[in-house]
Amino acid sequence: MYEGRTDAESGIIFGHENMGIIEKVGQGVTTRREGDRVVLPFNVACGYCDNCRAGKTAFCLTVNAPGAGGAYGYVGMGPYSGGQAEYLRVPFADFNCVPLPPGEQHEDDFALLADSFPTGYHATELAGIRPGQTVAVYGAGPVGLMAACSAMLKGASRVFVVDKVSERLKLAERIGAEPIDFTRGDPAGQIKEALSSAGVDRGIDAVGYQATVAEGEEQPAVVLNQLIDTVRPTGAMGTVGLYLPSDPGAPSQDAANGRLLINIGTFFEKGLRMGTGQADAKRYAHQLRDLIIAGRAEPSFVVSQRLPLSQAPDAYARFDKREAGYSKVLLRPALGR
Ligand SMILES: NC(=O)c1ccc[n+]([C@@H]2O[C@H](COP(=O)([O-])OP(=O)(O)OC[C@H]3O[C@@H](n4cnc5c(N)ncnc54)[C@H](O)[C@@H]3O)[C@@H](O)[C@H]2O)c1
Ligand SMILES: [Zn+2]
Repeated sequence: MYEGRTDAESGIIFGHENMGIIEKVGQGVTTRREGDRVVLPFNVACGYCDNCRAGKTAFCLTVNAPGAGGAYGYVGMGPYSGGQAEYLRVPFADFNCVPLPPGEQHEDDFALLADSFPTGYHATELAGIRPGQTVAVYGAGPVGLMAACSAMLKGASRVFVVDKVSERLKLAERIGAEPIDFTRGDPAGQIKEALSSAGVDRGIDAVGYQATVAEGEEQPAVVLNQLIDTVRPTGAMGTVGLYLPSDPGAPSQDAANGRLLINIGTFFEKGLRMGTGQADAKRYAHQLRDLIIAGRAEPSFVVSQRLPLSQAPDAYARFDKREAGYSKVLLRPALGR
C-alpha cells in the first residue's frame, strides 16, 4: 500500500497491527471494560459465521465480501480504519479483542500478537511442522523471524533462515537459526549442502511477491520456485508471504494479473503440498500470549524502534529501504503529544 502497489485511496488510515487500552465500550459489548489492555489480531471478524466458528477468522464471511476477510486500515479488506491514529474503533469487540494482563509488562512482546507472531506461527501450521523436522524460512523480516521462532517452539531440529539483509540474518542467528545469505549463492544448494540431504522437511515463504534476486531485481515467483527446490520430495510448504490477484507495479503483464510462472511440474513430481493465505491470527493469539506470559516466547527481539506517530513518515521511508535499525517499528500515537 505504501509503495502504491494497490488501489489504496489517498486518506486511508493505515495500521492493522494494534494494541491499546479501552477508552469506551459500546452497548453491544459484554466482556470488555474501560481500562482493559487488549491486543487486536489484524483480522476483523464476526465470530459467528461458518469460517469464524471453524477458526478461519481471516476469511470471515460477514465483515467484507464473502471470503475476502476484514482487517483494520487495509485496502480490499473492508471499511475499517487502521490504528495509526489517536483512537481506533473495534467492531465485534468481544471477539476481536484479545485480553492482556493489566500494567505494562511484556508491552513489546504483546504488540507482536497483532500480526507477525501469529502469522509466523500460522506458516508453521500450514507447513505442518512437527518435532525433529528440518525447516527453511525464506525472508528474515518480522514474519520470517517469527516463523523461525515458532518452528523452534514446535521442536524443529534445524531451522535455516534465508535473506540478504545482514542485520536480519544476525537476529535469526540470535534465536538459534542458521542464516543463509542468498547473495552468496543459490540458497537451496547452500541448505542441501549443510544438511547433506535432498532438502528440508518443511519450507516457509515469508517474502511474497516482492521477492528479489541477489542482484536486486524483483522476480515475484523466485521464492516459490526456490522453496520447491529446497523442500525434500513429499515435504510441505507454508506460504504466508503475500501474493495478490492484481499488482499495478508488477514487472510483467502476467504478474500484474496475479499470474506467476511456478515450477508446477517439479512441485507435482516431488509430491509437495502447499498451504497459503492470510493468517487466522486470532486463532493462535491467546495461546501465544500465554507463552509470552510464561516466559517461553519473547518475540520482542525483532523490535528495533519505538517512535511517536509524528515520526512515522520517516520511519516508513527507512523501513521501506530495509535500513539497519528498522526491523520492526512500534508507533505510539500518544507518545510525545
Ligand atoms: N499471510 C498473512 O496473513 C500475512 C501477515 C503479515 C505479513 N504478510 C506478508 O508476509 C511477508 C513478510 O512480511 P514482513 O513484515 O516480514 O516483510 P519484510 O518486507 O520486512 O520482510 C521480507 C524479507 O524478505 C527478504 N527477501 C526478499 N527477497 C528474498 C529472497 N529471494 N529470498 C529470501 N529473502 C528475500 C527481504 O530482504 C526482507 O528482509 C510480506 O509479503 C507480508 O505482506 C502476510
Ligand atoms: Zn465471521
